[in-house]
Amino acid sequence: MNAETVPEADLDVQAQSILLAASHHNIESLRTLLRTGSASVQDPETSFTPLHAAIAACEPSADDLIDGGNPNGHVNGTANGDHSSSTESDVEAAAKTMRLLFQNGAIWNDVDSKNETPGCLALRLGLKDLYEIMVDAGVRAEMLLNRLDEYEHLTGNDDEEEEDEEQGSDEETKDHGQVDAPSNGQQQDLNDDGEEPSEINNEDYLQSSLRFQDGRILDSAGNGVMMAWETDLIKRSVDLIVPRSDLRVLNIGHGMGIIDTFFQEKALSAHHIIEAHNGVLERMRKDGWYDKPNVTVHEGRWQDVVPKILDQGVLFDAIYFDTFAEDYKALRDFFSDCVIGLLNDGGKFSFFNGLGADRQICYDVYGKVLEMDLFEAGFDTEWDTVKVPEMDKGEWEGVRRRYWSLREYKLPTCEFIG
Ligand SMILES: C[S@@+](CC[C@H](N)C(=O)[O-])C[C@H]1O[C@@H](n2cnc3c(N)ncnc32)[C@H](O)[C@@H]1O
Repeated sequence: MNAETVPEADLDVQAQSILLAASHHNIESLRTLLRTGSASVQDPETSFTPLHAAIAACEPSADDLIDGGNPNGHVNGTANGDHSSSTESDVEAAAKTMRLLFQNGAIWNDVDSKNETPGCLALRLGLKDLYEIMVDAGVRAEMLLNRLDEYEHLTGNDDEEEEDEEQGSDEETKDHGQVDAPSNGQQQDLNDDGEEPSEINNEDYLQSSLRFQDGRILDSAGNGVMMAWETDLIKRSVDLIVPRSDLRVLNIGHGMGIIDTFFQEKALSAHHIIEAHNGVLERMRKDGWYDKPNVTVHEGRWQDVVPKILDQGVLFDAIYFDTFAEDYKALRDFFSDCVIGLLNDGGKFSFFNGLGADRQICYDVYGKVLEMDLFEAGFDTEWDTVKVPEMDKGEWEGVRRRYWSLREYKLPTCEFIG
């Protein structure tokens, strides 16, 4: 008998039994139940999955929290109502339960009614080991999806791709203002603010009209294309990839011109900028970027411009990549296929690392995916941790969705190995 042939009422009982067994870390019972039941059931009220239940059962007691057990000071009910303090063996048992659930197809990023993934819950409860298990599961799922995506492209399996798109399961992670969280094949909207994720793609964005406001650029839907709070992070990136004067630099995505202004302070021997949006290009003209003696502006999408630069054999000592409304694949294509033909020996490459930045676990998962893909592309990457400036609510007023909610930024500096 499989799940499809089990009557609905029995399914409810089965789902509750699975959740209960997971919260009790009862491996034997769970193993039996998962023969016919799913590891991705959700409680109808709390939307807890068995992963949530297994983690919540390790929640430290209120007394432990007063003693400083939980850094966030939250007190929450557990799946089985048990508030006993989490011991090492509780955590070990939870870890075993989680592994069994993953072996049976549990989904790493289903959210509960509080919009928390199991990883968010583990992080909030200060359960570091369990959080790491969730991150690793997310990395495995994302790497597999990325590989499947490549395989589909290689085999030209477009029919399935079209079908996926029709079902709304676009499994791409977008950067800079567009963070669709990493996915699991069953699309999850993991936006912290509970808003619909913006569906904007690069083509639509480039057609949209822009609003240049004090300290930010918004597209016509109110998405933040660029915001001034990023200035310190960008300054640090410039200092790392342009350590001295007289270098040749390529920047992709001008935006508010923050990075290009910092580059100009470095007395470069050549400064190339690729920009695709007509509204930004018009601004650049007005602001005199076309007239600067060492600046070359390339109008158009980097996908069209880079092949021309490659044909000319022009090389750079530093390259920065920060576009908008593009998915992870675009960034990976750029660093896997283009940088090698553009970067001088000993040159440095960096990019705005905003993938999944509206949720810590997504940021950590994509950090690891990036690290592996960068390594595979031949880079040695240094990750600098930079504090993100405190932001009050006003910072995000009028912006469609908050694309950054983390305290720390991981700044990548990449050089080719050897
Ligand atoms: C986030 S902003 C860059 C901000 C910039 N780093 C700064 O310091 O102000 C992204 C920029 O990339 C541009 N862009 C988006 N897609 C592009 C593409 N495919 N090729 C070139 N530029 C693109 C956008 O028009 C926008 O100006």
